Formats: sequence, C-alpha cells, structure tokens
Amino acid sequence: MADTEGTQEVHNYHLDTPVKSRPFHLKGCHALDWGMQNRLANIFDAVSGKTVMLAVDHGYFMGPTTGLERMDVTIVPLLAHADTLMCTRGILRSTMPATFNRGVVLRASGGPSILKELSDEEIAMDIEDAIRLNASAMAVQVFIGGEFETRSVHNMTRLVDIGNRYGMPILGVTAVGKQLVRDAKYMRLASRICAELGASYVKTYYVAEGFETVTASCPVPIVIAGGKKLPELEALRMAYNAIRQGAAGVDMGRNIFQADAPAAMILAVRKVVHEGFRPEEAFTYYNSLKAKG
Ligand code: 5RP
Repeated sequence: MADTEGTQEVHNYHLDTPVKSRPFHLKGCHALDWGMQNRLANIFDAVSGKTVMLAVDHGYFMGPTTGLERMDVTIVPLLAHADTLMCTRGILRSTMPATFNRGVVLRASGGPSILKELSDEEIAMDIEDAIRLNASAMAVQVFIGGEFETRSVHNMTRLVDIGNRYGMPILGVTAVGKQLVRDAKYMRLASRICAELGASYVKTYYVAEGFETVTASCPVPIVIAGGKKLPELEALRMAYNAIRQGAAGVDMGRNIFQADAPAAMILAVRKVVHEGFRPEEAFTYYNSLKAKG
C-alpha cells in the first residue's frame, strides 16, 4: 500500500499564472506529435534554433573516402562539437561510442555505389532498427530529375508514412545528378517536393544566387550540405550566407573532416551557425585554434 502518512494537504494551483502554450521552435513543425518534436529537439538547438550536423555517411556509396578511412581516429574526437551525427548504422554500431548523447540521423537509403547509377536507391533500413539505435531522424536521398526519380520519391514517402507511425522525423536529402544544373530553381523544386510529400526537414545545397527563395518557399527547415572541399574561409562564408538567407543549419562533411584542422573547423562553423560570427571572425578563430594544435 502507498505510504500516505504525512501527505501535505496545502495546494498551490498558481491561479494567477495562465498556462502558456509554448510554440515549437522549428518552422513548419508546430503540428508534429510530441515524440517527433522531441527527436527534432535533439537535432536543433532550442536556443539558436539551428544545428551543426556532422555528415560522415559518405561511405554508404563511396567506401573509405578521404578523411573517413579510420573514423575511430578522425571522427570520434569531433563528436563533442557536433549537435548531431549523420552516419550509417554500420558505422554507428561499429565505431561510434554509445556515450554520444546528441542527435543521430541515420542514412536510410542506399544501394548503388559510385560505380553505378546513383539514383537507383532503395530503402536501406527498417524503422525498428532506427528506433533500437535511438535515432533522432532517418535520412533518405531524393533524386529529382534523376533516372529513378519516382522510386526515390517513393522511398521517401514510404519512410514518411512509417516515420509518422512511430514519431520518427524523415530528412529528405536532395541529391544533384551530374547532368542537372545546381541553381535556385532546381533547389526550390527539389526542396519543396520533399516538404510537400512529408519530410520533416530538408537537406539541400547552397546556391550563391537566390538561396533565400529556396528557404522561403520550403515550409520546413532547410540545412545545407557542405559539398566538395573548399578553402576554410570560403566554407565559413557559405555557412554564414546560408544561415543569413534562412537555413536552419548545416549538415557538413568534407569541409569539416577534410579541413587542415577538423576540430578547429567544426568549432568555427558552430560560431557562425549558433552565434552569428561573420566569416572573417570565424576564420580568425579557426586559425587561432589551429595554431594551438
Ligand atoms: C550524401 C550526403 C552527405 O551526407 C552529404 O553530401 C554531406 O556531406 P558533404 O558536406 O561532404 O557534402 O548526404 O548524399
């Protein structure tokens, strides 16, 4: 029997304090269920509303690419600075410490390697395994304009349906085929299609002209991929411009783990994304950390 002896009978119902409805901090995500919002809150910082995702999932089609040959050596030390890790379940289980307690976004589509037609992807993991791994979202590649466009869109919509059932956000990753022009018109099309078809948030590439129209016309948050390795100042400039033009963060890989000083680089990117550092300021910060070793 419960011990009720000594239970206090004085109550305070705070009648002068109206109950507040707290708006959720992410664009277009206010109507999501609690579990879905809670997972997104593992990814996006509650104060800045932004995220620095560390993308290291390249091996799912590229194998051991430069900087990812020994992820225990090169990536594990960066985890302390990442809001979220984006990787495959194989790397998560084999290499990443389970003490990492921020968001994990799992690569959930795959199939072809760089030797084949890349848009020929299928769903590559079950949601049960993502839940078992305590993932905060699942990521699926969408190849708008690609040879297997419809299949890749269907991969995403299937995952959205399954994700809605279990409260798992789906990140729609807009992939750019070799033959497609990487401009604002294309990014608007691809991002909007992902959002319309249910992605909780969208990853796309930054474009120098008109990126603000890509974020404005996408009703859910957008994070940018880093893309190919740039000189560090340029990469910081890209992150700065993307945030200023409405991005909710970065999902950056090669521009971090292939930088001269990866830990300094992710810390500098954080300054831009969360604290609004200008690119030159963040570059000075990067160089000072790099000099300290
Ligand atoms: C592959 C991906 C990668 O995660 C993405 O390309 C991010 O890495 P990077 O910043 O190196 O481009 O989604 O399609």
